[in-house]
Amino acid sequence: MSRSPLIVLLLFAAAAAAATALPEYREAPHFTNSEAAQCPPPLPVTDADVACSPHAVVHVAMTLDASYLRGTMAAVLSVLRHASCPESVYFHFVAAAGSSPAPSSVGVQELRDTVRASFPSLAFRVYPFDESRVAGLISTSIRGALDRPLNYARSYLASTLPSCVRRVVYLDSDVVLSDDIASLAATPLPGETTVAAPEYCRANFTAYFTPGFWASPSLSATFKGRRACYFNTGVMVLDLARWRRAGYTAQIEEWMELQKRVRIYELGSLPPFLLVFAGRIAPVDHRWNQHGLGGDNYRGLCRGLHVGAVSLLHWSGKGKPWDRLDAGRPCPLDAVWSKYDLLRPAAEIESS
Ligand SMILES: *[C@@H]1O[C@H](CO)[C@@H](O)[C@H](O)[C@H]1NC(C)=O
Repeated sequence: MSRSPLIVLLLFAAAAAAATALPEYREAPHFTNSEAAQCPPPLPVTDADVACSPHAVVHVAMTLDASYLRGTMAAVLSVLRHASCPESVYFHFVAAAGSSPAPSSVGVQELRDTVRASFPSLAFRVYPFDESRVAGLISTSIRGALDRPLNYARSYLASTLPSCVRRVVYLDSDVVLSDDIASLAATPLPGETTVAAPEYCRANFTAYFTPGFWASPSLSATFKGRRACYFNTGVMVLDLARWRRAGYTAQIEEWMELQKRVRIYELGSLPPFLLVFAGRIAPVDHRWNQHGLGGDNYRGLCRGLHVGAVSLLHWSGKGKPWDRLDAGRPCPLDAVWSKYDLLRPAAEIESS
């Protein structure tokens, strides 16, 4: 079988287009440190060791990949927009760097360039995350997206980030803040407490693990003497020094190993966190994770805000605001997300 030169040329062109598949994001406005907030001097942009600067007021960790990039960019913009010291926030991005990337996969360098183009003065670093590190530990869950290896990057922050970074705020890519991230980062972590997050003690904790787990005396004893409540791992304050000392990554990996042999839960990266930390976390006001805005996992219904104040909106669940906006079928709260959408022309946002 012979192909005509034209077809070969078209195939090459298609492959080249797939390899540079990232859309053009516009440049975000520059936000400056507030005089009233008594911020330290702005972080330098170029210095490689700036992550260890005592002038970094807040460290934020997020993942970075082509499929959720639009969400990450919006989340970063929302953090800066509402921070009292935006020039003193340092971002740690963990990017997928598979050992054998598919021809169409977007490289770490391209992701870094995209962030830099939209945020010319942002202090950040991109860490390649070797997905093969967790690929063998992942068992399939009810929703394919939950099994992306990058979802597990949050379990490896303690070894990924430099050891000078002690406290970090981890954020999912489908969030938008409407409040100062410094208030969230300042959550007290008493004693050896390592994780802070909003707790949901009225959620049915039993449902997160299989009947087999609860039927096993040795397994269910895990939660004995703990007031274990559900918490969402999309918004967490972590003390990485304590994490390193206690070796929590190895504990999480042990549960993932067990899950591969005996099915003890149905969801992805969340249950190992519950197994290790539920009942041992510091509480955070619910305003910091108004979750579930992605809607129903099965039918994609819209969800509204929970009762109470709002400092962070979280489109957890199946639906993502950017997909619904593109499809012309947004949920009412997706309008809030679209104010931070860097694919949307600025003039359009200012007039809306
Ligand atoms: C909690 O979930 C378990 C397992 O799905 C179920 O058997 C139980 O009835 C639920 N309890 C309540 C109070 O809804």
